[in-house]
This record gives sequence, C-alpha cells and structure tokens, in this order.
Amino acid sequence: MGNTLFDTAFEDARVRHKALSKEIEKHDKLYHQEDNPEISDAAYDALRRELEQLEENFPDLKTAQSPTQKVGAAPAKGFKKVRHNVPMLSLSNVFSQEEVKEFIERIKNFLRIPEAENVEIVAEPKIDGLSCSLRYEGGKLVQAATRGDGEVGEDITENVKTIDDIPKDIPVIPNVMEIRGEIYMSRDDFMDLNALQEKEGKQIFANPRNAAAGSVRQLDKTITESRPLKFFAYSWFGEMSAFEPKTQDDIRKYIKDCGFKVAEPYGVFDTAEGLIKYYKDVEERRPDLPYEIDGVVYKVNDLSLQGRLGFVSRAPRWATAHKFPAEKAVTILKDIDIQVGRTGVLTPWTGPDRTTR
Ligand code: IVH
Repeated sequence: MGNTLFDTAFEDARVRHKALSKEIEKHDKLYHQEDNPEISDAAYDALRRELEQLEENFPDLKTAQSPTQKVGAAPAKGFKKVRHNVPMLSLSNVFSQEEVKEFIERIKNFLRIPEAENVEIVAEPKIDGLSCSLRYEGGKLVQAATRGDGEVGEDITENVKTIDDIPKDIPVIPNVMEIRGEIYMSRDDFMDLNALQEKEGKQIFANPRNAAAGSVRQLDKTITESRPLKFFAYSWFGEMSAFEPKTQDDIRKYIKDCGFKVAEPYGVFDTAEGLIKYYKDVEERRPDLPYEIDGVVYKVNDLSLQGRLGFVSRAPRWATAHKFPAEKAVTILKDIDIQVGRTGVLTPWTGPDRTTR
C-alpha cells in the first residue's frame, strides 16, 4: 500500500511539530530560567500559535509532552523549590476583535447562557513582569515563589522581602492566604539600571521584564535589594472564613485593603464591544504608562461561574489575554556607506557586522 495524502500531510506535520517544540522549549528556557531571551515576544507567540494550529489539525500530536500542555520552565538550580498549593497557570491569548467575541461566545455556550443575556467580565492591564505567589500565615509574609513550571517554583522569599510594594504584615487576617501578582520594573528605573550596569561593565538587560526577573532571581539578596522593583497584585486564594468574595471585583477591593497596589485602568463590562473599547483606550494610553504592559486580561467576574468554567490544559477557560501588537520603535539611521562597483553600480554597504535576525 502506498502513502495516502493524509499520511504524507501527517508526517510533514509531525516533523514540523517536533522542530517547533524543540525551538519553543529552547526559548522557554532562555526566557524563564536565564532571563535572557533571544527573540521578541511577538515572534515567540507566533511559534506557539503555529504549534497550536498543528495540534488543532492533527490532534494526535497533542501529547502530554507538548509545550502547549506546559507552563514556563522548571525551577533553576540553586533555588529551593516550592510546590504550589494551587497551580500557577498561564493564560490563553486572543489577538483580534473577532477572537474577543469568540471568547465570550465560548463562555456563554459552555454555561448555557441564552444569547440575549450577558456575562460580566472585568478587564485590567497585563503587566509585563515576573509572576509571583506570596503566602501569608497569621498575617505575616512567610513565603514567596516564582511560577516555575506551574506546579513547582523557586523560593524567592528573602529577595521579595526587599520589595517595598509588598506588605510584610497584613492586619486583616484569614489565617492562611495567598496573593498572586506581577513583580516589575518601571521604564525609568530600567533605563537608569542599564546606564549603571553599562558604566560598571556589567550585563545589560534587554527590557524591563528581563531586568525585573534577573533582579529577583538572584542567590544573593543584596543584589535584589539594590534594584528598584515594584509589585501589582491581581489574585487571591485563601480560607473563606474572614472574607467571602463572590466576584473578582470583591477580590480586587480586598487586595487593596490589604495594602497592595493594583494596576489601572480597570473596568467591568458585559459585552465584547465594551471590552474592545477598553482595549483600544488602554492601547492608546500604553506609551504614557510608566511601566510596560503587553496586553490586557479579561476575567469572568462571578467566581462561581469561574468554578463552573474550570481549566483547559494550562489555562483557565474563564480568562484570556488580549495581546497588543509588538510596540513600534523608531530607529535613527545615522550613516549609510555607499559602495561604487566597477560598472558604476551603487550598493549600500551593510558590512559584515550589520546582521538582521
Ligand atoms: S490573571 C490563571 N491578571 O500573565 C492565571 N495575570 O501570560 C490568571 N499577568 O502567569 C492570571 N498581568 O503572571 C492575570 N492582570 C493580570 C496579569 C496577569 C500579568 C501574567 C501572569 C500570568 C501570565 C500569563
């Protein structure tokens, strides 16, 4: 029997899937473990999208080992490991207005909510930093951990205690609670840090996210202490005795009462059109924000609905990230060398040291 067309297509897909998986794993390690990425977030997202598309067309390729089923990268050596009580997951992405509408439709279909009824969704900026889980016992900060592979993260408790935005004691107490959020560095602080690093002949960071991650994931906490790190909180888990949140909105208010900072602007909406308008507003304000964001996050407001929606592989069904296109930068071209060939042809000389990726 010869090959059918499907066999050939499947074989091609399998080969591409393997190469893409290897490539994504390499970039996950560079980004999460070494804080030193080689490609842009947009290029990385494109690789992931291609992998997801292959798995949609050929579901047999979707095995437990695929990067689509995993979060981040395993904890780096040198750090104590922390097993998360509640896994720290990732978010699915949407990139267009159409996909925002589909996100809402999927939620309504799953919950069997009639077409004419709405679901409340909260929206807030997606901070481009390093996710961190903080554990409080009896109101005291006892543990801080990175996301790691979602199940096991790195113990960064002593480093995190040097960050002013993170309360060490909380007056309002459920006995045990966890706050999750994003450690980040402001654009100005990032520029100042890189200038200092350059002056001292030390490592230059590619962007504020890497500077924040590289500063927190230090075995010597005095280095972390010398770096200007900040924190925004976005979620809460805990014993429900003292505080019984019904919505994401309740959680946000409670987090603020505990002394944490939360990202602005924030909104509660009940249609895809409302979310899209919010997205556009935030995108317009993006260059003026003092910190970097790479999109906005939409979350179902009602926590009981979140519970019913649950999770798919590595992300909740009740939330998604609406990503911004890669930020445009202006390059000032200072000089062009023109080479004159023997026949008089003019060629811009790009030289052996000017490469493009
Ligand atoms: S909610 C189940 N809200 O984005 C995960 N995440 O790409 C729910 N992030 O790991 C997360 N800003 O570290 C949420 N306002 C925000 C966020 C946010 C940044 C990070 C978070 C997450 C990653 C997923």
